[in-house]
Amino acid sequence: MKYKETFSDYYRNRVTFSFQYHPFSHRPKHVWVICRFHEQWLLTKHPHRGWEFPGGKVERGETPEEAAVREVFEETGGRVAELKYIGQYKVEGKSGTIIKNVYFAKVDAVQLKENYMETNGPVFIDEIPEDIKENQRFSFMMKDEVLTNCMAYIKKHFLF
Ligand code: GTP
Repeated sequence: MKYKETFSDYYRNRVTFSFQYHPFSHRPKHVWVICRFHEQWLLTKHPHRGWEFPGGKVERGETPEEAAVREVFEETGGRVAELKYIGQYKVEGKSGTIIKNVYFAKVDAVQLKENYMETNGPVFIDEIPEDIKENQRFSFMMKDEVLTNCMAYIKKHFLF
């Protein structure tokens, strides 16, 4: 892949993705975390958007890595044992631009909780389905080339 790649997301917003370190912002305000728990993918059930990898906003005083660990725990109960940077992407939406870091996390424990913040808790899946782009169970965030690029990278670098 070239330095950057641009494509349209599910809502036809323009997305630019890169595997470089912080190409668009040194202080990204959002994070997204592709989680692996043993032989499965760990997602969260968003009440409106559907199944997606956990993530969210970086809070004041937090690093993006701290936000990633916190969001995984809040939305899935998962404890991050290892966190690896994959890349960064920019979404140019109708109401502004957001910049997100994407990580790969190895989760070594999943705690059952009473409350998963704004989500309905963890979902475990063996495979990302081939028909994900048409599959209504999955969130729009799972339906563009960000996921495809990141999964290819994870398979090559982190899963043997
Ligand atoms: P809250 O304040 O948490 O409710 O967030 P929000 O609804 O204002 O959304 P946010 O600021 O997180 O994102 C703004 C818009 O950017 C969303 O409505 C989406 O269209 C888009 N967006 C956010 N995250 C992603 C992402 O990971 N991928 C894509 N393709 N679009 C995203």
